[in-house]
Amino acid sequence: MKTTAVYPGSFDPVTNGHLDIIKRASGIFDKVYVAILTNSAKKPHFSLEQKIDWLKRSTADIPNVEIASFSGLLVNYANEIGANVIIKGLRAMSDFEYEFQMALTNRKLSPNIETMFLMTNNKYSYLSSSIVKEIAHLGGSLDGLVPNFMIEEINSEIKKKQ
Ligand code: PNS
Repeated sequence: MKTTAVYPGSFDPVTNGHLDIIKRASGIFDKVYVAILTNSAKKPHFSLEQKIDWLKRSTADIPNVEIASFSGLLVNYANEIGANVIIKGLRAMSDFEYEFQMALTNRKLSPNIETMFLMTNNKYSYLSSSIVKEIAHLGGSLDGLVPNFMIEEINSEIKKKQ
């Protein structure tokens, strides 16, 4: 049986922590959809087109990864694309409570889909998209936090909005 997984998120922007999870998931599943939520309650800083572009360029060397977007319920989207696994990254115990609730909710909504957690690489355990945006806003270095090609682009997008 082919295993298809979906790795959902806001990816506002994608970080090296996300990319570590994507790479590791691509070694486990036949196909990994990285799915950007488009109707988030949190207003995204970067456009969907920009986020897709950054994710596509960051994963160009991983053939079984596809970048996509979705709105509405994650389990509906997972069923549409034939994914039987939802992948989530866990950084710390503080992520666990919320993710546990989401995993149980998603199982209630669609018992055929399993949520699987990958522990973050400890060198990225502090990293989040919000941290990246805050550092960029305050003029700090994004070195090692996102792919190098994104650094100039993030800084110039953030400057435009300041
Ligand atoms: O990167 P994020 O913002 O932590 O990702 C959150 C995401 C996209 C995984 C979560 O908000 C989600 O799954 N949204 C879709 C709506 C849904 O299915 N919610 C769960 C049942 S209420």
